[in-house]
Amino acid sequence: MWDKMTSTDFNKRLMDGMTISEENHLKINGVDTVALAEKYGTPLYVYDIDLVLNKIRSFKDAFKCYEKKTQVAYASKAFSSLALYERLAGEDVSLDVVSGGELYLALKAGFPADRIHFHGNNKSSRELREAIANGIGCIVLDNFIELTMLEEITEQLQKNINVLIRVTPGIHAHTHDYISTGQEDSKFGFDLASGQVEKVIERLMSSTYINAIGLHAHIGSQIFEVSGYEAVIDKLMKKADEWRSTYQFNLEVLNVGGGFGIRYVENDAPLSLSVFAEAIMTAVKKSSNELNLELPEIWIEPGRSIVGEAGTTLYTVGTEKEIPEVRKYISVDGGMADNIRPALYQATYTGVLANRVNDDSVEKVSVAGKACESGDMLIWDIELPEINQSDILAVFSTGAYGYSMASNYNRLPRPAVVFLENGEDSLAIRRETYDDYLNLEISHADRTK
Ligand code: LLP
Repeated sequence: MWDKMTSTDFNKRLMDGMTISEENHLKINGVDTVALAEKYGTPLYVYDIDLVLNKIRSFKDAFKCYEKKTQVAYASKAFSSLALYERLAGEDVSLDVVSGGELYLALKAGFPADRIHFHGNNKSSRELREAIANGIGCIVLDNFIELTMLEEITEQLQKNINVLIRVTPGIHAHTHDYISTGQEDSKFGFDLASGQVEKVIERLMSSTYINAIGLHAHIGSQIFEVSGYEAVIDKLMKKADEWRSTYQFNLEVLNVGGGFGIRYVENDAPLSLSVFAEAIMTAVKKSSNELNLELPEIWIEPGRSIVGEAGTTLYTVGTEKEIPEVRKYISVDGGMADNIRPALYQATYTGVLANRVNDDSVEKVSVAGKACESGDMLIWDIELPEINQSDILAVFSTGAYGYSMASNYNRLPRPAVVFLENGEDSLAIRRETYDDYLNLEISHADRTK
């Protein structure tokens, strides 16, 4: 039998920026989430934008004491929207985009092109052309075919471009296989062990328009320790030292990627952003001292750690099914279409009943989504107060890779996104409608005209 959870335990579940109102409702950034659910409908993604900005500023502050420049580039694959790009345009932050689509939206939002970095293992010629034509700050070079395309495009456009060389360093991060990218057997980047990086440096050193400013490595995501970053820094700095003498390669920038872990459930104990920053700076300085190599600029690309904990999804509870002695399922009005992570990575989440946060928990239930898939489960075994139809369930830490990986599976419309800032709510992305589907569809009559 499970132990009854007291209201104090419930409070521990809450994330930064959350409080409980006198009516026992969950508030985020001072805004009543039950009122938000009523106003905008559910499922609803709610972002505490003050928390997003705080995370960015915490990273920036943590790197303040570093002797050279640093760049924090928000990895916007975690969550992108016109409104967020607009909001970040005015902040001291760069942007990592991974497709023409993200680049398009960022430029439409007025995000300065020279603060944008472009990533990807299969950038098309069109994407590269658009990036260069728009004066993007840097391309993270991934493979030889991309290099050939870049040589042609820069020649045609007569434009220079800065690149970082993406290296797969042969370091295995302790995380889910699908989000681990530093190991040798990875689709990303130039393999360090087999000499691919030397080949690309050789080509870059004789390039007219392409300026290799440094190295990039991203070991994976949802990382809870600093050792992986330290190992990458040690390895790449040593290599940079070799390549300095062999190829006159000058390591101006060292980009150690993103991957900083966040709290999804009570047991997650992520390191603070300053601990990561401190470890990275210390490792870079140590190598640079030992090798007598000039300190490079340090760049990072956090995605999840900027927006993950700032996002909460609100759902309305619908039906339930109790299998005696086995389990009680409660179903909500969203699921794998708005959060694929439990189904794809066995990711775990927690949450509270937003309309009765502090009530004592009386039952253990499993939260199912509404898609026609047995795997569409959001949370297995969560202790909650008595649940009724129409209750509002708030699921925490859904801000990263939720909306950005959402689908229309089962023709479920993508939820709306609401931003909270200074205690005010505003719609950032409207809810998809059935008419939006029709905008893309071509009827039999039109096809046969
Ligand atoms: N830089 C590079 C080169 C990356 O590939 C990624 C993530 C990041 C930065 C940002 O990593 P973050 O700080 O967000 O962990 N969909 C998966 C995560 C895929 C990560 C892809 N690359 C998930 O939901 O966990």
